[in-house]
This record gives sequence, structure tokens and C-alpha cells, in this order.
Amino acid sequence: MTYRFPPGFLWGAATAAYQVEGAAQEDGRTPSIWDTFSHTPGKVADGDTGDIAVDHYHRFRDDVGLMAKLGLGAYRFSVSWPRVQPTGRGPGFQRGLDFYRSLVDELLTQGIQPLLTLYHWDLPQELESAGGWPERDTAYRFADYAAIVADALGDRVEMWTTLNEPWCSAFLGYGSGVHAPGRTDPVAALRAAHHLNLAHGLGAQALRSALPSRGRLAVSLNPAAVRARTQAPGDLDAQRRIDALATRIFSDPMLHGRYPADLFQDTARLTDWSYVHDTDLAVIKHPLDALGINHYTPSVVSAATDNRPPRTDGHGVSEHSPWPGAQHVAFHQPPGDLTAMGWSVDPSGLYDLLMRFTREAPGLPLMITENGAAYEDRPDTDGAIHDPERIAYLRAHLAAVHRAIGDGADVRAYFLWSLMDNFEWAYGYAKRFGAIHVDYPTQTRTLKSSARWYGEVARTGELPAG
Ligand code: FCB
Repeated sequence: MTYRFPPGFLWGAATAAYQVEGAAQEDGRTPSIWDTFSHTPGKVADGDTGDIAVDHYHRFRDDVGLMAKLGLGAYRFSVSWPRVQPTGRGPGFQRGLDFYRSLVDELLTQGIQPLLTLYHWDLPQELESAGGWPERDTAYRFADYAAIVADALGDRVEMWTTLNEPWCSAFLGYGSGVHAPGRTDPVAALRAAHHLNLAHGLGAQALRSALPSRGRLAVSLNPAAVRARTQAPGDLDAQRRIDALATRIFSDPMLHGRYPADLFQDTARLTDWSYVHDTDLAVIKHPLDALGINHYTPSVVSAATDNRPPRTDGHGVSEHSPWPGAQHVAFHQPPGDLTAMGWSVDPSGLYDLLMRFTREAPGLPLMITENGAAYEDRPDTDGAIHDPERIAYLRAHLAAVHRAIGDGADVRAYFLWSLMDNFEWAYGYAKRFGAIHVDYPTQTRTLKSSARWYGEVARTGELPAG
């Protein structure tokens, strides 16, 4: 059977600046926290850095050409903050802004809609040196940066997202330390979470006042599809705690203008949350035009049965927990085959999240701003790259999206992660998520079978029978 998607459904692919651009020291760009982190020995697998990445900064025209050849309707990319406002303060930097103008113009010429993400984790190092996300001032710096980018690109970009996965910025960056800036302080992580929320609200206000009326605002969260291993009270409590820390800590303030009471209770021994000022929640609850959901795999949790350290959600290994106040929750492998990240293939998680936000935020359109899988793709002797597992992953997840739409979810777009292989954070170049293969030494791009398959889906708006 064939699944037909609604007319106008947007099919795209996603990347992020530090993962693809390279040109780390060109045209006035200054270091971000990811430059510092990746150049610190032991932080990234094989000592990999984003210095060159996949050289998208120089090859973007060819890359856009590949998107057009595939028939994609949209491209989600992020702006490198230290490229367009090198110290994180002061006026915009024209050379950096010109790069994004050229990229957007190339996309528009090819009929591809840009979806611009302002923050995909590359905080200017100078702002981290001044305290980073645990400090309130960083949220105000973000709003200034948002206004700069909106002034420069608002005439040609309609779809904007403030933050990508603030959970990772806060809890992997400042809690478990597997991401930049690599701090391991649970209180700093909670403070960072609030200031990221505030940055989202202030940034949304800045965008709204700088953009023409057709500008549309969103945020990309990575809400957890978290299940209790059994219905035992301890397991249900573990699920509630992780849901609060992974999802409601961001979605409640952004969508409903409140923090969850249980989150405050669970973390009361660590912090009194006095850095949440009276007026902040009204700012954070800025009306949005869509909610972006990034999703890869569900989680199964239970009350800990022993003292094993928790796993860090597949983003890296750390003895420090990314779950302040819930360190002793145990994570278990959900059913399903595993990807190269060790993440289970279980599309019911995506369905559940789409239905959850359909119930929780009626009338708010949803976009899947990331979904995809890493596999150990290798070229055949003839140079072709066959990745049937990735096709199966995408097919199953798109079928789940289709089912959610049939059940009333207003899903408007799907962005495959990722357009092409790239720098996968703490894993460096060891994990390949691309539909397009990149041979790193030569930077040669080769379409994998999944790229051709996905292009067909994008062009027809139909998911063919399996
Ligand atoms: C998400 C990130 C994205 C990519 C995928 C695999 O958490 O937003 O940059 O690394 O995971």
C-alpha cells in the first residue's frame, strides 16, 4: 500500500553549521565552544574537529545542486553565531552574513525553502568565557544576535527556529560534559536550561519585531518518548522524572508559560530556581507558528535496581549524569534493531510524540525537524553505496508520521537528518547519518540509495509500499 501525504507537505533535509561548514578560521570567524572542545584532547573520538568538516562553506553551491537534483523542497541549516557576530557582542559582521545571504539565494534560485536555525550549539567562546548559558546575560546576547540575523536575512527567509535541542546544550554541555563546553555541574545545567528558555523567548520577541509579517517562528525540541519498563510505582516515577527533565522543562514554559511543579520538587536539593525572575515565563511563552520535533529513538526507564551509572542517551560516555535529581534512574534498551549509534529502531516513539503535542498544543502545527539514522555505510567495489537499513528506518518512521496525520496530527514538514555525512559531535566522523556519502579525504559526495529513495518520496509526496 502507498501512503500519500497531504498536498503542500514539505520534504527537506537538515544540517548544522559546525557539523558541515568547516572554514573555521576564515572570513573573520572566531572560535565557538565546539572549536575549543574539539581541540581539547580526549573530548572527541579520534581527535576529530570541525575545522574542515565537509567544507560546505566552500561547496554549498554544489550541495544545493544535489538537493535540487533529489527534488527536496526545503533545507534546514543553522547559522554559526561566531561567524556573524564574532565576539558574541556588538554589530553584525558583514562577511559572515554574506555567506548566509549567498546560501539562501542559491536555495531560493533552486526553489528550495530555507529553514534557518539560529542556535545549533556553537556559542561564541567569548560568551562561554564570560559564564556561558548558566548566566542570564547570555540570553540577552542571543536576542541581540537574533535581531542581527533577522535584519540581514528576514527579507528572504520565512521560516525561523530559535534553538536546536536545548536539552543537549544544557544537560550534555553542562551536566554530563560529553558536549561543549564540557562542564559537569548539575546546577549549572539547570541554570543553563532556564537561560536557554529565556533566550528562546527573548529571541522570538526580537525576531517578531525584526521580521516581515510573513516570518514564521518555531523552536526545535528533542522531547523524549520515555516509557516505564513496568507499571510499578517506582518505574512510573522514573518515567515522570525523565519526562520532566527531558521534555516538560522546555515545553511547559514555551507552550504554557509555567515550569512543572514536580521538576522543582525533584531538583529542590540542588537549586531553589531563584534565577527564574517573575516576568520570565511570560517572555518564554511567546506565540509560535510551529513546533519542531527532533526524534531518533524512544527510551525505557525503571527505578534503578543497582548502582550502575546511567547511560547518557547515546550521545557519549560520561561518569556524570545528564539528569540532575534523577541520577539513579536506569535506562534500558527498547525493542527493535539497533543503528550504528546503538539506538533502537522503534517508530512508535515518533507517533507518540506527535500525538502528545497534538493533544497538548491544539492548533499548533508540527514539523519534524530531525529524524534519521547512522549506519556503517561503505561503498561497494563499483563505488555505489547501498544503505537498505536507512531506507527501512526512514520508511518506518514516515509511515508513523502518516499514521499520526491520519489520527489528527497537523504535521507540515519532515527534515531528514542528515543531508550528508558530517561531524557527529563527540563521535567525530565515525558515525555517518547522511543520505549523501562524503569521502572525507577528497570531499567527494556520492548519493546513497537512501538519497535516491527519499528524493522519490519528496518528489511524489508518496511513501511507496515496502
Ligand atoms: C541531534 C542533533 C544533530 C545530530 C543528531 C544525530 O541531537 O541535533 O546535530 O547530531 O542528533
